[in-house]
Amino acid sequence: MIERSGVVSSIYRSGKVYDLLYPGSAAGLTFWLELAQTYGDPILEIMSGTGFKAIPLAQAGHDVTGVEMAEPMLAEALRKSRAADAHVTWVRGDARAFDLARQFKLILLPSNSICHLLTRHDLEACLASVARHLQPDGRFALNVFVPSLPLLLQTADEELPFGGYADPDSGAQVVMTSRSWYEADTQIKHNQLFRRVGEGPIEPDGELAMRIYFPQELDALLWYNGFAIEHKYGEDRRPFDGQSGMQYFVLKLRDRV
Ligand SMILES: C[S@@+](CC[C@H](N)C(=O)[O-])C[C@H]1O[C@@H](n2cnc3c(N)ncnc32)[C@H](O)[C@@H]1O
Repeated sequence: MIERSGVVSSIYRSGKVYDLLYPGSAAGLTFWLELAQTYGDPILEIMSGTGFKAIPLAQAGHDVTGVEMAEPMLAEALRKSRAADAHVTWVRGDARAFDLARQFKLILLPSNSICHLLTRHDLEACLASVARHLQPDGRFALNVFVPSLPLLLQTADEELPFGGYADPDSGAQVVMTSRSWYEADTQIKHNQLFRRVGEGPIEPDGELAMRIYFPQELDALLWYNGFAIEHKYGEDRRPFDGQSGMQYFVLKLRDRV
């Protein structure tokens, strides 16, 4: 993620470590694979990371391109797709300003990646890039969590578990924690990360800033940036309601409705 300083967040410094922190699950792929079957190719995933979605989509026979900004994530995606003998076109680019000189039937922005678009300007630049790359009858799909009160109420006084993994080189157990706070004016949740390797000292491990998107706000931002909501689901394609923990959108270009 681009922080305000222009530095990629520390959780994206190593694709291998990212995959250990967030190993994903087969269930997390179902929605995206079903969309690909319904809407077809070519498919573009923006902020494609280490290819957790893009590689299985390519293995299912789809024509997939991934745009990703962090070099270490892209390098791991390339290594994994080669090892899996899956062809994905990997492009280093910024979700807010990419130009692939082609259009896609389906554009995906999964895994809360929209939270990396910290300002309205960032989001609108990304949505304009998506609109330029979407075929007139194409679909744009994204998902993002619904902000919960406990998440908004966290304070920097509390050090909370963030994740853990066995270091790929040394095998030592790494425990990550975070101190987090929510800024109500910018709607940014700041996470200061810490890591402890084995019994070593607790050391600062960079930052992760996430823009929080409230349901009605996001509906409006999408609409006023040219997208009509074809479907909005909660988990497991249930209709989005007050109990939903996730927002899943399937969107069309608005002037095509
Ligand atoms: C949460 S990960 C999601 C990875 C992948 N989509 C998945 O489902 O596993 C978000 C990714 O977005 C990338 N990213 C953050 N800001 C970006 C930007 N402005 N342009 C392109 N990639 C970006 C990060 O480097 C990271 O790999």
